[in-house]
Amino acid sequence: MQENTIPKIDVLEKAYDPTDFRKIGHQVIDLLADHLEKVQNDKEHLVLAYKDPEEELTYWQDDFSSDSGILDVFKNILDHSIQVHHPRYIGHQVAVPALISSLAGMMSDMLSNGTGVYEMGMASNAIEKIVTDLLARKIGFDMPSSGFLTSGGTLANLTALLAARRAIAPSSVWQNGHKEKLAVLVSEEAHYCIDRAARIIGLGSDGIIKIPVDSNYKMNTRLLDHYYDKAISEGFCVIALVGCACSTATGSYDDLETLADFANQHNIWFHIDGAHGGGVVFSKKYQHLAKGIEKADSVVIDFHKMLMTPALNTALIFKKEENAYQTFAQKAQYLWDSQHTREWYNSGKRTFECTKLMMSIKIYTILKAYGEEVFGKNIDSLYDQASVFAEMIKERPSFELAHAPEANIINFRYIKTDSKNINPLNNAIRKQLVASGKFYIVQTTIEEDRYLRTTIMNPLTQKEDLKALLDEIEDIALNLLN
Ligand SMILES: Cc1ncc(COP(=O)(O)O)c(C=O)c1O
Repeated sequence: MQENTIPKIDVLEKAYDPTDFRKIGHQVIDLLADHLEKVQNDKEHLVLAYKDPEEELTYWQDDFSSDSGILDVFKNILDHSIQVHHPRYIGHQVAVPALISSLAGMMSDMLSNGTGVYEMGMASNAIEKIVTDLLARKIGFDMPSSGFLTSGGTLANLTALLAARRAIAPSSVWQNGHKEKLAVLVSEEAHYCIDRAARIIGLGSDGIIKIPVDSNYKMNTRLLDHYYDKAISEGFCVIALVGCACSTATGSYDDLETLADFANQHNIWFHIDGAHGGGVVFSKKYQHLAKGIEKADSVVIDFHKMLMTPALNTALIFKKEENAYQTFAQKAQYLWDSQHTREWYNSGKRTFECTKLMMSIKIYTILKAYGEEVFGKNIDSLYDQASVFAEMIKERPSFELAHAPEANIINFRYIKTDSKNINPLNNAIRKQLVASGKFYIVQTTIEEDRYLRTTIMNPLTQKEDLKALLDEIEDIALNLLN
């Protein structure tokens, strides 16, 4: 006789078993907390136990075919990853996540509320409105403003340029495709994602007009008229001017007030890429760096850079609420009834993504636990520490500081060698330093020269860590030169 019940599928039941989840979950949290204690306090613990890509792949291929248990997997991932919580992680611009925010991240991954539509994220949509409204107030927008969270600064900048095109281009590109030659004006020091975004929206190389910078790596605003007039005479319709707050390579803030006036005078969209440094709006001490930010039409700020959340977590805030809704006017019958109504609670109407992570809860938990002052304190501590580091570099004759830091990005190089060796020597120094695993820093090129690039991201990084870094670089350089 045939069974009338659906057979039990043990493995699926196990995959959803709360008892197993509780047991493994406690063990994983203990593992992570023990790991953090070590990483934050034990200077001998490596920031990155570097292996080359083929070796790393082989390691995981072997692991995949082995009978390692699930806790071993968690442990091995820890040991094979870069440790952003290590005070000697001074590398790329990725926030050292506040731990409460990481817990919210785990919750986001368990609930998996897709958030694009209200019913798939009641809490996350309501909280998203609260945190983006707070950010709009901090920016200083004085009219009904509106924004949303999206997956990273790259996507947010693309979305902002799409909004600019929608608002300024003479014909409706969204409906009818491209007619005019469109262009954007941007500093030559802008992050490459602006260039990429402009190409994605169909502007091509000629439509990305890069304005040279001055000696402080800020857009040279005296050249704006020239580049704008040239573009117009060549038949371009300039849709947007993009300001950096701050730039990626050197952390330089453009003169946003002058840019705002220029954009206003020419009736073009003013967008600010504040992915890295826009968070200064939370700092009494450093908010002056972004003076004029309130005059922008749109602002991008990454919470996962200076504002302590795990990646990715980016806000795109529009000065005029309606602009937030007009970018992606499209029918999606199965999601919402009409595209033309402004429903803050269906956040997918305004974002590129359909399904997205519950990003807002990772910001909200920080705000609830520590108040908004914590963001300002984080910025103050990292920017202050960068000034201290710059002074330390200047005091050592073997180093040259590339520029006085405005933000927490410091570029310098080892110079105690003859000039033709400097670039290869600094490349080799970084390679050896990273291979040692004792510190993590990156590199950049400024006007053809190689610099060691550090971004102080961890408020637990102390002066003694920075001194140890300079000592280590000097040792490596001496070894290499001998
Ligand atoms: C100024 C600036 N804009 C945009 C980006 C890209 O942001 P994301 O990595 O979040 O896509 C970066 C990344 O470093 C940046 O520094």
